[in-house]
Amino acid sequence: MAVRNILKFGDERLSKIAKPVTQFDDDLKSLLDDMRETMRVSNGVGLAGPQIGVLRRVVVIEIDDLYLELINPEIVSSKGEQYEDEGCLSVPKYYDKVKRPKVVTVKAFDRDGKEFTVTGKKLLARCLCHEIDHLNGILFIDKSENGQKFKERR
Ligand code: NI
Repeated sequence: MAVRNILKFGDERLSKIAKPVTQFDDDLKSLLDDMRETMRVSNGVGLAGPQIGVLRRVVVIEIDDLYLELINPEIVSSKGEQYEDEGCLSVPKYYDKVKRPKVVTVKAFDRDGKEFTVTGKKLLARCLCHEIDHLNGILFIDKSENGQKFKERR
């Protein structure tokens, strides 16, 4: 396992659309292991492939004792609304409010290629949306309350 370098806001790879994973092989497993380690040493609750320069649809999330690996995740339903502060390992030391659904259900594949669904509320719902946005080249500052001002200051 290895800790990967996390790309920061301004790196154009963060605004690229990631490609679906097609091979559930050993390379994918070591990528996921690296992502988990990188997220943990960075004290993050989620990490997406593009954040380490891997333009593939892979996400890891860890909230308390729930650890999730999501390959090719898709939001299948969402309801309600929440408006809470978010941050991102690619946008250090900046937090801002983002509108998200209160509950989301996501369909994804695990590291062995088995499909599963997960429903998240509150923080997990925000995190699922935030990480899936990364796969589509979207950062939270692209939709947060003061994100535009933040970008103009940079
Ligand atoms: Ni992020």
